[in-house]
Amino acid sequence: MTSTAQQSVSAMDHSTDPLALIDVDHIRFLVGNAKQAATFYATAFGFQVEQICDLTTGNRTSARYLLTQGNIRLLLETPLSKDAPGADELRNYGDGVKDIAMTVFDATKAYEQALRNGGTSAYEPIVVSDAHGSVTTAAVNTYGRVIHTFVSRSGQYMLPTVKAGGTFMPGYRPMGHFALNDYNRQHPCGLKFFDHCVGNVEEGKMNVWVKWYEDVLGFKMFKHFDDKDIGTEYSALMSKVMASGNHLIKMPINEPASGKRKSQVQEYLDWHDGAPGVQHLAMRTDDELHSVAELRRRGVDFLEIPHAYYESVWKRVEAMLKSHGHASVKEDHQRVRDLGILVDADDEGYLLQLFTKPLQDRPTLFFEIICRRGSQSFGKGNFKALFEALELEQDKRGNL
Ligand code: FE2
Repeated sequence: MTSTAQQSVSAMDHSTDPLALIDVDHIRFLVGNAKQAATFYATAFGFQVEQICDLTTGNRTSARYLLTQGNIRLLLETPLSKDAPGADELRNYGDGVKDIAMTVFDATKAYEQALRNGGTSAYEPIVVSDAHGSVTTAAVNTYGRVIHTFVSRSGQYMLPTVKAGGTFMPGYRPMGHFALNDYNRQHPCGLKFFDHCVGNVEEGKMNVWVKWYEDVLGFKMFKHFDDKDIGTEYSALMSKVMASGNHLIKMPINEPASGKRKSQVQEYLDWHDGAPGVQHLAMRTDDELHSVAELRRRGVDFLEIPHAYYESVWKRVEAMLKSHGHASVKEDHQRVRDLGILVDADDEGYLLQLFTKPLQDRPTLFFEIICRRGSQSFGKGNFKALFEALELEQDKRGNL
């Protein structure tokens, strides 16, 4: 989260609103092989493989790897037996996001408030503690198999200490020497924090989940897009962006809209056992060109943007910036094009963004790398160009 957002979490929020969010505590993935996935995310995206909780620390049900970069904490988890929690989900959905966990002042109070607001329990409060402090967690179910865990921390497990390299939770140990960590410190990718987290839900269900975020977590609608904004000749989707009260996190929710051919949202659902889930995680950088260049050098597979895109983009973007009195795009145009980065502008400024291809064999979860220069939007002007690129990929997979 940004420091401005952090400052807006006041003592007043604490005393009056148990659902006031302090930070994105972590995002947990269920994966088939956390040991190998940790190496993939470290090699390709520059994460530090920092801590581990597995058989060697007495965890006999799963292996958990904590990966960090900036204020991003990914927890990669693999169930260790067929009866372990998550094993059946892994079979149904493949690798993907299980938990978007939020730090709060009091996890039990946040959980109880969410239940009073109509949420359903994923699990009741659990307190783990030792001589150094304690961590309380409790969770509610959201769309599909995804849950939101509320996390509250005390003593040496407070988030500022964790961010400074302290132990994540009781039961975790440092990774020890891991050569890739040294390399990544010397060659940073510059990813800072989670900007937004997009869910794909079934046709006709977008408003159900919009209402859920309003009612249960107290989020507000930030922006919305319909199929006229984000459709191509073949496929379309509708999207509403939900934001937490302090804009700590934004959670756009997509549903497929009908087109001549299959929507990208429908393709996701087809390969996700028909169930809703997290489609992409967007991570913020202050320097899109540096981040994308470094990620490309490491072999990250990005969507290929058609050359024709760059023939019209500067005119469109500069006209928008000029009409609202904003300065021009300062990044070198040729480098933006060479790196295949997308640009968009709105009344508040511009943004640079790029999307990876799916991170696993199933065409489900992917990442977005985004840099904001004033714009608080999501690249609406890019949707058409982007979807045409996505459809080329869908067609290669025989799913269009
Ligand atoms: Fe996005």
